[in-house]
Amino acid sequence: MKKIVANFKMNQTPTDTKKYLMTFLSRVSEDADVTLCLPFTSIAEGVYLTRGGNVKIGAQNLSDEEKGSFTGEISGAMLKDAGVSEVIVGHNERRAKFKENSKIINKKIKIALKNRLKVILCVGESLAQRNTLKTFEVLKEQLEEALKGLYQNELDRIVIAYEPIWATGTGKHATQKEVEEAVKIIRKVISEDFSAAAAENICVLYGGSITQKNCKAVMNAKGINGALIGAASCDPLELVKIINII
Ligand code: PGA
Repeated sequence: MKKIVANFKMNQTPTDTKKYLMTFLSRVSEDADVTLCLPFTSIAEGVYLTRGGNVKIGAQNLSDEEKGSFTGEISGAMLKDAGVSEVIVGHNERRAKFKENSKIINKKIKIALKNRLKVILCVGESLAQRNTLKTFEVLKEQLEEALKGLYQNELDRIVIAYEPIWATGTGKHATQKEVEEAVKIIRKVISEDFSAAAAENICVLYGGSITQKNCKAVMNAKGINGALIGAASCDPLELVKIINII
């Protein structure tokens, strides 16, 4: 079964989330593996409405500090206690717009794991990097920096999302072949740095302009375990359709 992660980004008030979930939860299949990464302010509503069901609630970010004088930040412990089970780390929007570097991403991952949150680690190259044949180099560096100091058994709680920058929020998705190549690179790096078994077992998602029209072809890529969906997940009916297709 494919894993689906929905990234709502900075969309939906708690009232919107309530309406969304009324529609979504009555239609989504009971055996779907779905995590809805809601804005912080919608998490309580999401946790409440999904209680006892198969739909998990995730967050889109956490602080790289554990606690203290960091006005406006949200800690891993806060997310865990609020009922969050997974958190996105290293999304390209945070890397670019909030200047999150690999050191910060590595700290965030360690804090998330310490709080028993599953991490959805995003990696991906820009168009310029792809055009100059740097995709391998970029993915390897992003993975190695992010996973530095982790034990092999901790990879059970890491999901890697391949999200090329040129495909996120652009309407242009990677082809099946491009996804297959990236998945191969990701598993090769994990195999070299951890083990062949870790590389085989790690869950790899693709994200970037997925819609109900293109999801089947992209999800046919060899080695892909699921999808990270942004814009298309904002419509509950579209998300249900995608889940049913893949
Ligand atoms: P998109 O976003 O599906 O709208 O391209 C995916 C993401 O940024 O996680």
